[in-house]
Amino acid sequence: MMLRRTVSLIGLTFDCTAQCVTKADEAVSANNHEVAVNLYSAAIALDSSRHSLFAHRSQANLGLKLHAEALYDAEKVIEFDPSSYIGYELKHAALHEAQLYDEAVAAFKIMLFKLENASDPQIKKLRQKYGSPSEVEDAIRRAVQSYLDSAPLRLVNTSTGRLCDRHAQTNSFKTSIEYKQLLSSSIKHPHLQTESIEKAVEMYFRWVMLSHRWENEEPLLHDIADKVVYDLDPVGTMTKLQNFCKITRDAGYLWAWSDTCCIDQHSNSEVQRSVNSMFVWYHNSALTIIYLSDVPPLSQSGALAHSAWNTRGWTVQEFLAPGVVLFYQADWTLYLDARSSNHKKSVAIMQELEASTGIDAQALVSFRPGMAGAREKLQWASTRVTTLQEDIAYSLFGIFGVHLPVIYGETKQNALGRLLQEIVAQSGDISVLDWVGKSSEFNSCLPADIAAYRPPPFTSPFLSEDQIHTLVSSLQDAIVVKLASTLYSRLGNLTAPRFGNCRLHLPCIAFPVTEVRRRRSQERMSYFTFEIKADGLQDMLITTEDKLVPFSQAKSTRQPYLLVRPWNRYDLELPALAGDAQIVDDLSEPESSSDEYFSGSSEDNEPVDSEPHSRALSLIVRLGQPFGALLLAQQRGGEYKRVASDHNITAQVKDLTAVHDMMDVRTLEIL
Ligand SMILES: *[C@@H]1O[C@H](CO)[C@@H](O)[C@H](O)[C@H]1NC(C)=O
Ligand SMILES: *[C@@H]1O[C@H](CO)[C@@H](O)[C@H](O)[C@H]1NC(C)=O
Ligand SMILES: *[C@@H]1O[C@H](CO)[C@@H](O)[C@H](O)[C@H]1NC(C)=O
Ligand SMILES: *[C@@H]1O[C@H](CO)[C@@H](O)[C@H](O)[C@H]1NC(C)=O
Repeated sequence: MMLRRTVSLIGLTFDCTAQCVTKADEAVSANNHEVAVNLYSAAIALDSSRHSLFAHRSQANLGLKLHAEALYDAEKVIEFDPSSYIGYELKHAALHEAQLYDEAVAAFKIMLFKLENASDPQIKKLRQKYGSPSEVEDAIRRAVQSYLDSAPLRLVNTSTGRLCDRHAQTNSFKTSIEYKQLLSSSIKHPHLQTESIEKAVEMYFRWVMLSHRWENEEPLLHDIADKVVYDLDPVGTMTKLQNFCKITRDAGYLWAWSDTCCIDQHSNSEVQRSVNSMFVWYHNSALTIIYLSDVPPLSQSGALAHSAWNTRGWTVQEFLAPGVVLFYQADWTLYLDARSSNHKKSVAIMQELEASTGIDAQALVSFRPGMAGAREKLQWASTRVTTLQEDIAYSLFGIFGVHLPVIYGETKQNALGRLLQEIVAQSGDISVLDWVGKSSEFNSCLPADIAAYRPPPFTSPFLSEDQIHTLVSSLQDAIVVKLASTLYSRLGNLTAPRFGNCRLHLPCIAFPVTEVRRRRSQERMSYFTFEIKADGLQDMLITTEDKLVPFSQAKSTRQPYLLVRPWNRYDLELPALAGDAQIVDDLSEPESSSDEYFSGSSEDNEPVDSEPHSRALSLIVRLGQPFGALLLAQQRGGEYKRVASDHNITAQVKDLTAVHDMMDVRTLEIL
């Protein structure tokens, strides 16, 4: 009798438990964790021997963020079956949510061991889902290294106010809660690993750069090393550094960089690395703070344009490189657009910068370093000043994407010369020869000062399609066509300019000078004006500081001077060298229309030949337009030197049909 009752009671308990559990599971699916916890608790009250109930309740408690309760249930599961991995998996989850990451990782390691040690092959297989914690640690270490590879060498910890090198930064990360959290979550979610690791590493290490104008006495590395920035006497420029660090910290960034104190000026290798990497540091910064110390609070539009910051050489790359910038006024309030989180998105500020720097808004917002538009970039820099003379060239390394040695003391001529030589050598772009002023001692074809690029570059007059057609038709003469084709092929055979060891090998069309006469009545004695005659060119006047030797071919057989048209391959308008189908297609269109023109004008001519002819003839038309010429003087060894002029030398051929006058095609060596 007693026995039967007990049995039926147990049956009742079982049913009730099953019902509770079904309802609880439903509640979990509906995200109703509170109901689920209550139902699991009811089931446990009826039957506390089923550890799966604790496991379920642990998860439901986690859903309610009741970490202690979740942990209690997880411990219960472990107690019931210490050899099962399930309790440890729950324990890891509970500890992770409780932000006890060290303990969480320890629990996870035990879980992995339980999986390895499981006798059930199905469970043993689960182990393959996870890597080993040491693999995850390695992955994090690699991510940190690769992130810091493009980060500044030293940064100020804005929380502590202490200067840290990379080593201190990585160590501080390893002991940070962010690191432990990352480790604990990465071992659990191996498939999310790479992305979440990179994100977490970036969140921790991202930095803010300062762009500002140097004042007389800035805090240097040795002034703040081993000290707390915030504790130092807040006088003069120290206040600027302190405010920069505070603003950075308050905006949620841990690391701040200022060129005053974050470069060891006494270490040559550190200076080299910094100058050659600074563009990338600004580019990769989370934010660049631009401090305008001479712009008073509540300034109106126009104050930025007139700030001394906007006259400095280094600041060009400091606002071109970053993606996110904020301009601050003297009192550290935001300039003009105070609600903006990125002034590159402020139309008013970008327009002001465009108007005052001559850099178009598109380049201001999305600048990419490289050789393209070299002459224009030099023009941007031509109005800027730097404290150290070599810096005007060094501050352009990042903008051109070149890496060259930094040799303070070499003089600005040499620094600029090395930069320009590299540009020509890498890109073959000879637009950098387009300047007026004084020659550099580095090479006579290069200017002594960047200001030589201030005048706009020479542009030949625009010719419409119709004008070209008319001019081409005036050249329809068998001899002209033949000469034009030969010239076209000769120019096509020229190699690109070469520049190395201060010598320029310049392909060009040369026009021998036949007469140089000094103009009488020179009032300004530092300049002289000369009347120049050259074979095939219209007569011209040249004003220069150099003394030309008056000479006339009638009286001398020597030819000391040449006027040359530097040869640029692109002027041939050849189809793309790489054979890019798209470009070839684009180019073929105007040519096919010239075909029609030719077949229409002379019925007897087969149009087969006329495409190269028309190309050659339109080249002659283009060569007939005014061009920027270089005046060269021959040296004893057969090389040449450029005679610089304070005006551009504009030359033009005398007669379009006299193609033979343009046939002197050569590559000259210029010192
Ligand atoms: C590993 O498994 C064996 C048998 O399956 C068991 O005896 C042993 O206690 C387990 N070790 C641990 C640490 O769980
Ligand atoms: C940087 O600041 C954080 C936050 O205060 C601190 O935990 C960490 O130890 C600091 N690191 C260094 C290297 O100063
Ligand atoms: C070059 O000089 C000519 C006069 O010789 C002048 O008309 C022209 O505007 C100048 N071009 C540039 C870009 O300075
Ligand atoms: C250009 O080069 C080709 C091949 O090297 C040669 O056959 C041709 O004669 C050259 N043309 C001229 C005008 O020098």
